[in-house]
Amino acid sequence: MSAILEKVNIEALREDFPILKEKVHGKDLVFLDSAASAQKPRAVIEAMTHVMTSQYANVHRGLHYMSERTSEAYEAVRDKVAGFINAAARDEIVFTRNATESINLVAYTWGRTALKPGDVVAVTEMEHHANLVPWQMLRDAHGTELRIIKITDSGEVDWHSLEDVFADGRVKLLAVTQMSNVLGTYTPVERLAKFAHAHGAKILIDGCQAIVHRKIDVRAVDADFFVFSGHKLYGPSGIGVLYAKADILDAMPPFMGGGDMIAHVSYQKSTWAKPPHRFEAGTPAIIETIGLGAAIDYVNAIGMEAIAAHEAALTGHALAVLPNIEGLRILGSAQDRGGVISFVMKDAHPHDIATLLDRQGIAVRAGHHCAEPLMGRLGVTSTARASFALYTTREEIGALAKGLERVRKMFA
Ligand code: ALA
Repeated sequence: MSAILEKVNIEALREDFPILKEKVHGKDLVFLDSAASAQKPRAVIEAMTHVMTSQYANVHRGLHYMSERTSEAYEAVRDKVAGFINAAARDEIVFTRNATESINLVAYTWGRTALKPGDVVAVTEMEHHANLVPWQMLRDAHGTELRIIKITDSGEVDWHSLEDVFADGRVKLLAVTQMSNVLGTYTPVERLAKFAHAHGAKILIDGCQAIVHRKIDVRAVDADFFVFSGHKLYGPSGIGVLYAKADILDAMPPFMGGGDMIAHVSYQKSTWAKPPHRFEAGTPAIIETIGLGAAIDYVNAIGMEAIAAHEAALTGHALAVLPNIEGLRILGSAQDRGGVISFVMKDAHPHDIATLLDRQGIAVRAGHHCAEPLMGRLGVTSTARASFALYTTREEIGALAKGLERVRKMFA
C-alpha cells in the first residue's frame, strides 16, 4: 500500500460511502463530524443486510444450520478484532455496546474487586465523560479516590503533575485517552504504560478516537485494558470492545447476569462461564458485531498506515489554513496530534458557527464534546470542532475555510 492515498484513490474510496453523495440544504454534504460517529461504507451496510436477509438466527444457542452459521460469523469477528489490535488471544476480546459500556464494565467488576477503598484511580484533564464519570461513580460507591492529572497549555499530559499524582504509591489504575476527542492530542501511551507499571498500577487506554487513525498494538504498548466503539471505526453503533489481558479477565466477576454468561444454573445459585462469555450476558448485538467485522476488513484492505498518512497530510493542511481566518483560535497545539480540530471564533458562539456552516452543507460538532470539565480547563464553555476521516478531502477543508470566512463576515 502506498504511503499516501492519492486524490484519485480518495475519490474512489468516497464511492464506497453512499451517504457522501447526499445534499444538505441543496449543497454537497461536507461531513466533518466523524469523531462523533463515522459514516459507513457499503461493505458494512451489505454485510449487515446479508445477515438479515440470508443468514440469521440467535448465536451460541441453536443446533440448526442458521444458528451455527451465524455463530461462526459472529465469533469470527472476535478473531478479527484480536488481530486488528494484536491481542495475544481471541478470548481477551469482550463485546460490549460501546466504549462507555466497556469502561463501566471495568469499573463495576475489576474496580470493585481488585481495588480497595483508598486506592486511587488517575485520569487526565482531557478525558471525555466516558472515562471520568464511571470512576466518580466507583469512588462514590466503593471509596476509591479519583485524581486528575493536569495537561499543559498545549494540550499534552503534564509529566510533573503525573509524577505528583503517583508520588504516594496509591494509584492502582491510570485511565487515559490515546487521542483527545477535543484537542486531537495523541498521548504517549507506551511511555505512560511503562510509568504506570513501574509504579504498581494498571493502565486502561481509551482508544475510541485513536483506533480510527492509527495502528493499535495492545501488546507493544503493554495495555492492561483497551476500549473502543465500533461506530467511530466505520462500523455500526451498538457494538463496542473491551480488551483486557487474559489473567485480569479471568479474575474479574461478571458484569450482568443472564443467559450465555453462565456455566451452570440452579434455582439457588449459578456459576460463571470463562471469559469472554462471562461478560456477555443475553443475546448480543449479532448484526452489529458482524458489521464491525466488515468495517475492520474494510480499513485493513486500505491499510492503517495509508489512512494515517492521508489524515496527517489533511491535518497539516487544516492547521495551516484555518489560522488565517481572522479571530479564529485553535485549541491545543500538541506535537503529536491528529485530525480533530477544536476552535473558537471572536464574537461567534460555537452553536452559531455550526448552524451557519450547516446551512452551507458543512457538518461540524459544537458544544462541550462530552468533555465538560476540559472546557473549563481551556477557559471556554464550548467549541466548534471539525474532525476528519479517511474519506475527507483537501477540498472539504477548503469549503470549511470558506464557510468560516462567511461566518466571520456575518459576525464582524
Ligand atoms: N465522544 C464523541 C465525540 O467526541 C461522541 O463526539
